[in-house]
Amino acid sequence: MKSLMRKKSVSAVVTVLVLVGSAFLYQNCGNSFQLKEDFAKSLSASSAGALELVQKEQEPIVTGVEIAFEVKGAGVQTGAAYAWSINATSSGCHGHQEVAAPSVYSVHCESPAEVTLYAQVTNPNGQSAQISRKISVVASMATPTPAPSGNASQVFTIKAGTGNSPWNTSATALEMYVGQTLRFTNADSVNHQLHVDRYNPSPDLNGRPCAHSPSPIAPGASYDCVLTKAYDPSVHPPMWDHLVGTNARFYIQVLDGQALYATSCASCHGALAASTKKKRTASQITNSLTSVDDMRSLSLTPAQVRAIAYALSL
Ligand code: HEC
Repeated sequence: MKSLMRKKSVSAVVTVLVLVGSAFLYQNCGNSFQLKEDFAKSLSASSAGALELVQKEQEPIVTGVEIAFEVKGAGVQTGAAYAWSINATSSGCHGHQEVAAPSVYSVHCESPAEVTLYAQVTNPNGQSAQISRKISVVASMATPTPAPSGNASQVFTIKAGTGNSPWNTSATALEMYVGQTLRFTNADSVNHQLHVDRYNPSPDLNGRPCAHSPSPIAPGASYDCVLTKAYDPSVHPPMWDHLVGTNARFYIQVLDGQALYATSCASCHGALAASTKKKRTASQITNSLTSVDDMRSLSLTPAQVRAIAYALSL
């Protein structure tokens, strides 16, 4: 009975602190958010801990750029649930919780706005606390859409009328290789934006196969996705239209020919840069896999052979 009472009074104190906190103690100072020290101390005495809403990367908060925020707090337990919302003075602001990292919320505005972010954290033990943060999104000086650049190895057109639909299907997944560049060209009448995991707690899963599109791709504009890492849609985090949600998928398979050459071929034919088999085609390699005794033990898929041929062609 006594412990029950104590629990009740602790949560009452937390509730009061949260209410008082959001009313008086949070101050919006541009990019930096200040939490009065006595408040932080008293809340950290509870098991929810003092919460902070920190900007993940120190980029300017401007239109067209996506800004990610993360809830931090000593008392936040593993497995905590996060409920997010935003309130913005412009309808051109969108926010979404990162699927792989629910403590992270990304916001972007297409026009200047005052935005308040709200996060409610609930620990597995049921205790919860909330925090809010105000940000001012100002007009960007830069062009919101990156100009096409680099050498596109392949162009993927986001078709007119795509809207909220997937960009392609697993059956029509592209096959490309590390080192190539995939240019997305938006032939639709609305913005699209390529989502790639960035804040996954397993760092190896981030940025596969290329960087998240930094801003929406406007109608007629392009985004060059430079393929730096292998990507298998059945293993790696899905890619989708950031402005629509996880159902609007994009499918691609990216193989790393350099890595495959290093593990399957280099022992006999030397390091890639000095390979004795430069410029061999996929069909030459396929033939050698059955005709050369020493190579019969190798087992490679046709796609892996094409990726190795690409690496040998450079
Ligand atoms: C265990 C050793 C070994 C491995 C591993 C191996 N090869 Fe070979 N490969 C040979 C030998 C031996 C020959 C025949 C002699 C020659 O042509 O060098 C050969 C021949 C070839 C040929 C046909 C001849 C030519 O010059 O066009 C190609 C193509 C080839 N290898 C490519 C590869 C590729 C690509 C890999 C990796 C997927 C690979 N090999 C892995 C030993 C190996």
